[in-house]
Amino acid sequence: MGVKGESDMATSLLRRKFAVQKGDESVRVIAITSGKGGVGKTNITANLAYILSKMNKRALILDADVGLANIDVILGLTPQYNLQHVLKGEKTIAETIVRGPGGIKILPAASGIQEMTDLSRGQKLTLLEELNSLNEDVDFMLIDTGAGIAANVMYFNVASKEIIVVVSSEPTSLTDAYALIKVLYQRYAKKRFRLLVNMVRSPAEAKEVYARLSHATDHFLNLNIEYLGYILHDDKLQDAVKKQKVLAELYPSSVASRCFASVAEKLCTEKREDYEDGSIRFFWENIINNDRG
Ligand SMILES: Nc1ncnc2c1ncn2[C@@H]1O[C@H](COP(=O)(O)OP(=O)(O)O)[C@@H](O)[C@H]1O
Ligand SMILES: [Mg+2]
Repeated sequence: MGVKGESDMATSLLRRKFAVQKGDESVRVIAITSGKGGVGKTNITANLAYILSKMNKRALILDADVGLANIDVILGLTPQYNLQHVLKGEKTIAETIVRGPGGIKILPAASGIQEMTDLSRGQKLTLLEELNSLNEDVDFMLIDTGAGIAANVMYFNVASKEIIVVVSSEPTSLTDAYALIKVLYQRYAKKRFRLLVNMVRSPAEAKEVYARLSHATDHFLNLNIEYLGYILHDDKLQDAVKKQKVLAELYPSSVASRCFASVAEKLCTEKREDYEDGSIRFFWENIINNDRG
């Protein structure tokens, strides 16, 4: 690239950076995570994103889970490209994003995260600018993380402004959630966690799960965790998974769909001081600059 080309690029980068700074405040970056796998993260992410989009909020799912039943399987999509293709310069972000039901956007990102740290400074900047261009089209970025405390799960939680921890009432789900919260709090100074209790038979059961976990974090970590809500156990959910459809689209009035709707409602009606705004750029900068030691 000639000098002219380079300075054009610099000008355009600067201009874009300036332009998005105004819009930064409107994006909420939320990691949906768990200590143990199989507690419902992927279904929760898909259903919340779907309902948010029905509420006229633009939702982007970042599929960061390398697991088997990931977002595209659940939504019946077959993305051709992922973040790795973007890193190799073969595809743009726009070409990588796939559209799901209700117009939700999905960025398949599980492959490629590891490679991001190996990029040169220039490549990182270009990538950041491209990722940041999403800022203008997104109100919520929901991240379906993998389970547990492996490094590749941690990056996403550390970089997110908000963290939703999904648990079920199984004892191992609780002990694993505790271990995850402990590491994020003690090692990465994360302080805000909201519990979403899935597959419960009653609201009271969810409250009891919350009471147990928050008692442990209060007592041993001196940390208060918040209660976000619950999703009832719903046989229709398995049916939706088999049909590769979002439950909230297939059975909008089923018990779990109504729970998803009230959680989405809660997220939307929160006051600004109850959550932190984030920008997509901030999120990716954290991912790229994260020290994996
Ligand atoms: N609210 C629910 N009611 C009934 N079954 C559920 C519910 N949530 C999750 N499941 C079951 O748990 C399985 C795993 O969910 P999934 O979202 O893939 O978990 P994760 O992403 O945490 O591994 C689903 O395929 C479904 O069978
Ligand atoms: Mg999953």
